[in-house]
Amino acid sequence: MGLFDSKKAETAGQVDMSRLPRHIAIIMDGNGRWAKRRGLPRTAGHKVGAEVFRKIATYCKELGVEYLTVYAFSTENWKRPEEEVGTIMGLLKKYMVEAIDSMERDQIRLKFFGDLSMIPADIQEMVQRTNNISSHIHGFQANICLNYGGRDELLRAARTFAQACVDGEKKPEELTEELFSGYLFSAGIPDPELIIRPSGEIRLSNFLLWQCAYSEFYFCDTLWPDFTEATLDAAIIDYQKRDRRFGGVKK
Ligand code: FPP
Repeated sequence: MGLFDSKKAETAGQVDMSRLPRHIAIIMDGNGRWAKRRGLPRTAGHKVGAEVFRKIATYCKELGVEYLTVYAFSTENWKRPEEEVGTIMGLLKKYMVEAIDSMERDQIRLKFFGDLSMIPADIQEMVQRTNNISSHIHGFQANICLNYGGRDELLRAARTFAQACVDGEKKPEELTEELFSGYLFSAGIPDPELIIRPSGEIRLSNFLLWQCAYSEFYFCDTLWPDFTEATLDAAIIDYQKRDRRFGGVKK
């Protein structure tokens, strides 16, 4: 199957529900191009993109996927025009207001990965509230990467561990992959088995650099606002055809 053969893939079989990835991560890319093709402002693409996030999160939960991690705003996205940044923050706020009302009913836990000290104070306050609600929920978890960068995440983890060594709480030789993982935003969450990037771009863009070590990647040309449940099915079906060896040999 070609990298961008999403239409064909969407008719290629059925998801095997007994072999679902526990954790799927998605770079929600292509909102701007989707809008431009329609003669709309880029912000219109983000508005539809936020709806698609809701739809795909609900679908993941229905399927039985345990974790969905999405890239909503990177440490580099501050370079975008103020209006666009404001729209993305506004969409997040709208989603969080709704989530605060509905997450308990829908049994959806929310977690945020990233340096939240830079985001507007009202959103930080909502993060606190969603964290509190999430602590009572045991079910599907959506992780929203917000002011997130993979290198930034690694540096923070390294600094925290180094400080623990300086303070005499840890020794350098104690550091294992498992211990290091515990310093990341994703502490306690299994690595994503499947990372999806729509919109035709074939790069990782500083997303989950540590966690992607053994992930399977799926690229398709669908722009995020056009991404549907069938596109996700196609990605999962493709993933289920892969031979995951983790550096070993097939038994
Ligand atoms: C990438 O497309 C998309 C973003 C940088 C923003 C994604 C944000 C949302 C979908 C809204 C977030 C809301 C919730 C509720 C999670 P792009 O703008 O880079 O598209 P382009 O490559 O076509 O220009």
